[in-house]
Amino acid sequence: MSSPSISVCGLGYVGLSTAVCFASRGFKVIGVDVDEQKVKLINSGQPLIYEPSLRELLAEPIEKGLLSCTLDYKHAISESRTTFITVGTPAGSDGSIDLRNVEDSSRQIGRALRDQREWHLVVVRSTVTPGTTSQLVKPIIETTSGKKCGVDWGLCMNPEFLREGSAVKDTFKPDRIVIGEHDRTSGDRLENLYRQFYGEQQPPILRMSPVNAEFVKYANNAFLAMKVSYINMIANLCQKISGADILQVAKAIGLDKRIGPLFLEAGLGYGGSCFPKDLKALLDFAKKKGIDAPLIESTIRINESQPLKALEMAEQILVDLEDKRIAVLGLAFKPNTDDLREAVSIRLINALLEKRAKVVAYDPIATDNARRILGDKVLFASSALDCIDGADSCIVVTEWDEFRKLRPEDFERMRNPVVIDGRRIFDPQEFKRVVRFEAIGLGATSMSPSE
Ligand code: UGA
Repeated sequence: MSSPSISVCGLGYVGLSTAVCFASRGFKVIGVDVDEQKVKLINSGQPLIYEPSLRELLAEPIEKGLLSCTLDYKHAISESRTTFITVGTPAGSDGSIDLRNVEDSSRQIGRALRDQREWHLVVVRSTVTPGTTSQLVKPIIETTSGKKCGVDWGLCMNPEFLREGSAVKDTFKPDRIVIGEHDRTSGDRLENLYRQFYGEQQPPILRMSPVNAEFVKYANNAFLAMKVSYINMIANLCQKISGADILQVAKAIGLDKRIGPLFLEAGLGYGGSCFPKDLKALLDFAKKKGIDAPLIESTIRINESQPLKALEMAEQILVDLEDKRIAVLGLAFKPNTDDLREAVSIRLINALLEKRAKVVAYDPIATDNARRILGDKVLFASSALDCIDGADSCIVVTEWDEFRKLRPEDFERMRNPVVIDGRRIFDPQEFKRVVRFEAIGLGATSMSPSE
């Protein structure tokens, strides 16, 4: 059986990873985006975003003609049988979801379908609030195409659970596939497509209504974010208990099968393009339905104050931050990405600047993006050692592997060797022997088990 052809509208990290992974398994893929520069770069083999193994995987399908990108929806739709919508759904200024990209994309797809003779499947993969697929995407496409959903074309909602920094890995090995189907034929088509893609390594497939699939995504992200805020709240408490250490507490509670070990890493809070906006959108959605969502509210509230914990620790030691040189290690919202959206680093740096501190920052790959946001308000170092050289305090903001390799002696080049571990990457016992060491979730006088 020849591999089917798909089109993917919106080439952000979800769209591009989806497109590249399908193409790398022999599917013919056409990517569509409204950004001409992006289309050109991808066609020349440059992914534009940093995502591990994406660049390497992109080269072969482009060369073989299996993957190409265009600005032209008509071309993409006529050359494919299934179209994924993967455009961004940012938060509006009041936190509510901004669906304009989804509307535009649906309109373009509808127009392209007008002249299409064959049955076509449209799959909403963007994160959208419950009801969007049936109440927005479906009527827009029906109106613009003049064709009936469930008869002339099919519709599914298929949320993605890809993490930035491991989007390729997550695409090849997802925990499950959720298919929200408008009608059985649409669901069958999408399930078959995934069966062809995964072959023997078929993950569990769950089929449901579009509205449930839409809600799975929000409930999933909100639960994960809540886990992070929960462990951060416990970590903040640990800091007030002499001898307490969040690492030991988190490890033990994580072994309870009902809780699980993942997403219990205490730190300076969550960032990125998903959790912050999805939680705000869910809260706004709940409010509009007249439902209180105090767990979501608290999750957001804890997260908003969490980056400032590092500043408080620095202030406690240095008393006044004015003119103090503060080294910030890590800018990306998490390791293995150059993404700075809602990054904790930006919030922390702005707060440090308000205290008139002099900030010098280093990140292995996100510096160029940070320069665009922070301009010359911050000095950018070319290495971790350069960054901490002569500093009065150093704050670990992103847990890059590169920083884990630093030894306590490396920090002796600081003017005032104060290390604040915002991501718990260093061994307190080892560091405390050489530098003044503070860390998230570490009680004031943390003792070793034998003490
Ligand atoms: C998240 C979800 O994990 C994906 O399943 C989902 O598909 C994606 O959002 C999305 O909605 O598209 P992502 O934002 O890429 O993925 O990154 P995560 O790995 O989930 O991390 C989010 C934030 O939480 C990061 O800032 C990370 O540092 C922080 N985090 C995570 C912690 O502070 N502690 C933890 O234990 C785990």
